[in-house]
This record gives sequence, structure tokens and C-alpha cells, in this order.
Amino acid sequence: MASGLSIAVVGATGAAGQTTLRILEERKFPVRELRAFASERSVGKTVTFRGEPVTIQRVEPAAFKGVDIAFCSAGSAQSKEYAPMIVKAGATVIDKSNAFRMDPAVPLVVPEINAHAARSHRGILACPNCTTIVTVMPLKPLHDAGRLTRVIATSFQAVSGAGVNGIAELREQTLAWARGEAMVARHFPHQIAFNLVPAIDRIGPDGYTAEEMKLVNETRKILEAPGLPVAPTTVRVPVFTSHSISVTAETEVKITAGRARDLFARFPGLKLWDDPAQHRYPMPIAVEGQDDCFVGRIREDLSSPNGLSFWVVGDQLRKGAATNAVQIAELLLHS
Ligand code: A2P
Repeated sequence: MASGLSIAVVGATGAAGQTTLRILEERKFPVRELRAFASERSVGKTVTFRGEPVTIQRVEPAAFKGVDIAFCSAGSAQSKEYAPMIVKAGATVIDKSNAFRMDPAVPLVVPEINAHAARSHRGILACPNCTTIVTVMPLKPLHDAGRLTRVIATSFQAVSGAGVNGIAELREQTLAWARGEAMVARHFPHQIAFNLVPAIDRIGPDGYTAEEMKLVNETRKILEAPGLPVAPTTVRVPVFTSHSISVTAETEVKITAGRARDLFARFPGLKLWDDPAQHRYPMPIAVEGQDDCFVGRIREDLSSPNGLSFWVVGDQLRKGAATNAVQIAELLLHS
């Protein structure tokens, strides 16, 4: 038998699932056998892995027998139902949904930041929210160097964060606009083409969306900073791929813009694009398709002596989802 692992991808037809297949190929993850799963309506269709068609199977316990690692990106309700069943079948689950992230027994892992947390898993490891991942990458070196005391983060989130339906909606509305036809909102609550929607999901009684509270709570868990004050605003923008976040971070020990540039440049998985004279800074279209997160517009905060402002962009289907999940699987390989 060829060496390698038996891998399952649940949600294999979706935006994150498709990217997971691509990243497993690109990173030459040792896959002996790939099993693909999606909803009932896709059973029997195929997805492509290493140039070969893989038939979509129905999610049922017997189908996971012999699987070593299962990547789940079919939504929170599905993960809640499927993950315990997949673990019972003998596999380790790397879950991309919100289902288990804040469960104290489940590690929430960004490998460059808290690889150690993965060691304590009991069958399920959670991958953070895409905006959280891109935001915490530059926060970690600042926290290590100067202890964060406050974070203000405003996100500009691409439509592919809402899955294949989000991508289709921006495309359809843009084509309708070009034809002079009415733009219909089906998936998002408002027209997204040529617009900004300042709420990723429902606004709660306290004025915050669930997406914003994920950014607060997950950042604290990943950085092991339970009381860290985080002020979030999350916005959907008419960009296909890559989330951008405008961040102001305050630290106990002052970090100058120059020192921050050094810290960012040395942190694994982060790249510095900060050349104001050349108008060089990260933008979603330049970052799409890349596994690193890119930081620029680094400047000292005019309103706070220990504040630092910057702009970070990451491909949220890659580092914000699939790449991070495959990196977690790589940790398991080497543990
Ligand atoms: P399907 O294509 O059959 O609907 P996205 O986040 O891009 O919208 O993708 C969601 C993914 O989750 C798709 O692969 C979708 O499959 C899958 N999915 C949705 N509902 C279920 C379900 N009940 N069981 C398994 N997979 C599901």
C-alpha cells in the first residue's frame, strides 16, 4: 500500500473545501486516499484532486472508517452533528466552523502563534474565523514585544468569506449593472456590488454582530490574553477574495513604527509591504492566491502615545481557512 494518510474533506464543493483540496496538493501533504463529502444534493458528483475525479459521498459513519484526518467546512450546524461522529469513527477533525472554537477542551490554532495548543487536542481542533486569523498574525509579535493593552480593528471582508453564494452574488450583480438591469440581493441583505455593508451577520441587542464577537473572543483565546480589550467593526465589501483589516493596537511598552516593521518582517507567515514613497502597501487583489498575510501603512497613532496603526491583508480562503487548516494537519503529522 502506498504511504500517506487517508484524508476526508467535508464541504468539498464549497469555497473553503475547494481551496483545501488545492492546498493539500500544493503543500504535497502525504495523502494516500482522498474522500470528498458534501450535502445530499451533491452526492455522486465529482471534485478534482491531483487531476483525478473524486466522487462525492454521503456523510455517514461508515464512510469515515479508516480516515486519519477530516477537514470540515460545511457550516457550524453540520460540524456540530458530524464532528463527534467522525471522531468516533477514529479520525481527527480539523474544523473550520464556529461550532467548537470557544470550547475550552478544543484547541483554537494558528500554527505560527500557538502550535503548542494543538498538542492537547481530544479529537477536534478548531481553525479560527478568517478575519481573526488575519488580524492576530501581526498582533502576536506586538504582544510578545510590548504586551497589548487594547486593539481596535475594522475589517473589510471579501464576499468569498460567505462561500460560493457570496461569490455568485457579487458576480451576478456586477453583470446586471453592466447590462443596465436591476441588481437583486438574494444572499446578502443588501446590494453588495458598488456598496459596503457594515454588518456581516445579524446585529445583536448589544449592537455587535456574531462576527465581531468572534474577533474579540477568538483573539483573546489564541493570544492567551483573556481580558484583552478589543473594539471590533466588521464590514462586507465588494471584493471577491482577501480580507483587509485596519488595526490600531496599544501596548504597555511603546513600539515605534520602525521596531514594528522589524517585528513584522521577522514573524513567520507575515510579509512587509510598506513603502509609502512607491505607493506600496497590501491590497486584496495583490494578496489573493498567497498563503502569507501582508502588512503595510505602519504608523504611530497620533491619538495615543503607545498606539500603533497598520493595515493587514490576507487571502481568507487560504491563510484564513484552508492553509491554516492544512498547517494544523502538518502539526499533527510531526507530533
Ligand atoms: P453542497 O455543494 O452540496 O451544497 P460554501 O461555504 O462555499 O457555501 O460551501 C458549503 C459546503 O458545505 C458545500 O460543499 C456544501 O455542499 C456543504 N454542505 C452544506 N450542507 C451540508 C450538509 N448538510 N452536509 C454536508 N455538507 C454540506
